[in-house]
Amino acid sequence: MTTQSERPHRSKPLDRASLVSAFRRLGVPRGGLLMVHSSLRSMGHVFGGALTVVDALLETLGRAGTLVVPTFTYPIARERGFVFDPLRTPSLMGAISEAGRRHPQALRSIHLQHSVAAIGPLAETIVNAGGESAWDADSPMRQIRDRDGQYLLLGVPYQNLTAVHLCEVELEVPYRKPVRTETRMRRADGSFVPLVSAGCPPLPGHPGSDFNRLGQRMEDAGLVRIGEVGNAIARLLGGWDLTRKARELFEEDVNGFLVQEGVVTRLTFGHIIETVRGEHCVADPSRMYGEW
Ligand SMILES: CC(C)(COP(=O)(O)OP(=O)(O)OC[C@H]1O[C@@H](n2cnc3c(N)ncnc32)[C@H](O)[C@@H]1OP(=O)(O)O)[C@@H](O)C(=O)NCCC(=O)NCCS
Repeated sequence: MTTQSERPHRSKPLDRASLVSAFRRLGVPRGGLLMVHSSLRSMGHVFGGALTVVDALLETLGRAGTLVVPTFTYPIARERGFVFDPLRTPSLMGAISEAGRRHPQALRSIHLQHSVAAIGPLAETIVNAGGESAWDADSPMRQIRDRDGQYLLLGVPYQNLTAVHLCEVELEVPYRKPVRTETRMRRADGSFVPLVSAGCPPLPGHPGSDFNRLGQRMEDAGLVRIGEVGNAIARLLGGWDLTRKARELFEEDVNGFLVQEGVVTRLTFGHIIETVRGEHCVADPSRMYGEW
């Protein structure tokens, strides 16, 4: 039997130019506003790693475009002793998001669990939009949608599409409830200031999210551009299209964003590979970077 590590890596490494071509082919718009959820290893070997991907995205968007990455910290934000430091706390949403956060021109919003980093002309507007909540009328997430932003899923399924939470909040789904958390934040000079962050966590008994159902609907309706960026399946969709389809699904089925009968919707395009790190959407499982 051939093990994964013995399989030949058939594709040649991706460089910045080939990534830019692939993003253009996919339809990433010059001058656009783009929020990216990503998995680096899904893409196969990239010369220069995550930084090359960020540079390629910025080149594709051009000077008039704005790139946003999630720099969420929710996996550890409730741990004892955790203090959010916008300048130093790393993103826990993958290597590409962390490379985006560390970009010299990146600005970061302030939120205990759901900060974002942005680079480009709309960066300041987006990161300074937030009040206490990551989802309310003034939040970065709302700004992205309201300013005709698009979302790119790069080697990850719709399960990672945070913007669906925005839809859930706007639709006032019955299984989430706003919660305010009061903690402290570390400032650049080392001093501490109070930090109040609001979220909308699920109530007990929540069966888990199935955002793939909504994504598959959008694909079936021709609202998603799908392509390959290296070995990653890439999906590009518009914020307003997502909002409209989410409303339609919710009006049909109040549990439309939830796992039903214990199974998450299977996506028809590409393969989903589950590793300890998460789910990866790939064209060819044998071309993922490294062993799994
Ligand atoms: C969890 C998740 C980030 C894991 O994806 P991943 O590809 O395994 O990890 P990263 O994107 O951090 O990339 C790092 C991995 O890329 C691989 N890698 C390293 N160098 C590489 C290179 N030059 N080229 C390609 N891959 C490389 C390695 O496997 C590395 O893992 P390691 O650091 O453990 O060795 C991803 O599945 C995910 O969920 N992303 C979306 C997160 C998100 O936005 N969530 C929104 C809220 S739900």
